Amino acid sequence: MEKNTHSTRRAAVVTGAASGIGAAIADRLAGQGRNLVLTGRDAGRLQATAARLRGTHGVTVLSFPLDLSQAGAPSRLVQWLAQEAVEVDVLVNNAGASLRAPVADGNASQVRALVDLNASAVAELTALLLPEMVARRDGAVVNIASTGAYAPAAYLAAYAASKAFVLSFTQAVWAETRGTGVRVVAVSPGPTRTPMNPGPRRGKRSPESVADTVVSALRRSSPAVVDGRMNALQTFVFGRLLPAWTTARISERALRPSAAGGDRRRSAART
Ligand SMILES: NC(=O)c1ccc[n+]([C@@H]2O[C@H](COP(=O)([O-])OP(=O)(O)OC[C@H]3O[C@@H](n4cnc5c(N)ncnc54)[C@H](OP(=O)(O)O)[C@@H]3O)[C@@H](O)[C@H]2O)c1
Repeated sequence: MEKNTHSTRRAAVVTGAASGIGAAIADRLAGQGRNLVLTGRDAGRLQATAARLRGTHGVTVLSFPLDLSQAGAPSRLVQWLAQEAVEVDVLVNNAGASLRAPVADGNASQVRALVDLNASAVAELTALLLPEMVARRDGAVVNIASTGAYAPAAYLAAYAASKAFVLSFTQAVWAETRGTGVRVVAVSPGPTRTPMNPGPRRGKRSPESVADTVVSALRRSSPAVVDGRMNALQTFVFGRLLPAWTTARISERALRPSAAGGDRRRSAART
């Protein structure tokens, strides 16, 4: 845990804030003058990000390293926030991991960790922090889903299913909290240039564009926002026009590991 000497009251909590989309969102929120609490597993990277944001924006930035795929981690974070007298005005559930592999490869523990991080921790943190926001009639929850949330994806089965959970959960909570003064929204990026999605830049958007979409989504009232027009079109076609079994089969052909390479089994895994 790392803290600076300023006393903090209200702050935005960003999970997975030391890289990629989370770092870009943290930068945008700090640019609005918000104090921040950053989380992730790598304490050094969190401290470096916190120092950079303090230097650039002059806001108070605390960091709390933890592995959100571990049981009890969301409660530990919320207890620590209470100890630090932090009132959370924005919660950004951004931390996530991907696993690209046929389910028949096994990887059961990685599948479990992915679901715990991408789905369970998002729901648990929302449930832990929402009551206070509703009681105050003020606050926002942004859950980062994915265009993969809108249709099944072969070889990304657990990832896409975990994001479908995030999207459905967030839309339902949006409906429950209408009129409470609390903004709840799922933001779905498509392919974005981050450490989770390395390789050719072509067709990918920047983490900063996703962060801009998050900022504008906070001002709107819809339950779900897709980053980028082409991504929105894609979610409409694959998520609304075509039946799920068709998109599952299309994705199986598009994402099938090449028979030639060692890619045949597990091509990329990150939990
Ligand atoms: N990049 C894309 O193409 C894309 C597309 C759609 C949706 N998304 C979503 O966008 C979000 C951010 O991903 P990104 O692309 O920006 O990738 P990223 O740079 O790898 O960011 C993921 C962040 O999550 C943190 N994290 C990973 N596992 C964790 C764990 N077990 N406990 C706590 N924190 C953990 C990582 O920090 P540590 O390693 O320090 O823990 C990292 O800062 C994810 O939810 C992802 O699913 C990304």
